[in-house]
Amino acid sequence: MSLLDVIFSRRSIRRYTSKTVPDKVLKSVLKAGRLAPSADNAQPWHFIVVTDPEIKRELSKGPWRSFIKDSAFTIVGCGEKSDKWSTVDVAIALENMVLSAEAQGVGSCWIGAFEEKEVKELLGIPDNLKVVALVSFGYPAEKPSLRNKKNLESIVHYNRF
Ligand SMILES: Cc1cc2nc3c(=O)[nH]c(=O)nc-3n(C[C@H](O)[C@H](O)[C@H](O)COP(=O)(O)O)c2cc1C
Repeated sequence: MSLLDVIFSRRSIRRYTSKTVPDKVLKSVLKAGRLAPSADNAQPWHFIVVTDPEIKRELSKGPWRSFIKDSAFTIVGCGEKSDKWSTVDVAIALENMVLSAEAQGVGSCWIGAFEEKEVKELLGIPDNLKVVALVSFGYPAEKPSLRNKKNLESIVHYNRF
């Protein structure tokens, strides 16, 4: 698939098969995150790869994230609180991971529905970091159709608003 095909056909995947994602694929996904742009190349990020079934189960507890337990792995993206752009930088890196996974047949879903305090405690994340988002990954067990998206005409403005 070309990069454009990947971007144009990606859907959030919340149901996963039990097939293991090879380590080589996981490494390439992490590398895609590592190579993402960041303001001043500061790379103000840490990524926790959760593969442990018990920790995944704990992270799953709560609304809008029950599928974490079925993911092959879930990545917790953390940004340095002291860095002005870390939220944006972590988001870019996570989306690089999403697209690189998608290109290799691995589906994913962003997760913003989490209690930061709980996640930090569970994973031992230090105080100087904030949890930006979680993204679950795994081979798709569903094939959702494309979601409705706003028309370009309603969101794009040329030269002036
Ligand atoms: C920042 C962010 C947070 C999200 N949080 C959740 C979430 O907590 N649970 C969930 O099931 N989906 C979550 N999603 C996925 C969105 O619901 C999904 O991207 C949106 O409905 C569009 O669907 P699509 O990704 O298939 O195009 C989140 C997406 C983003 C970008």
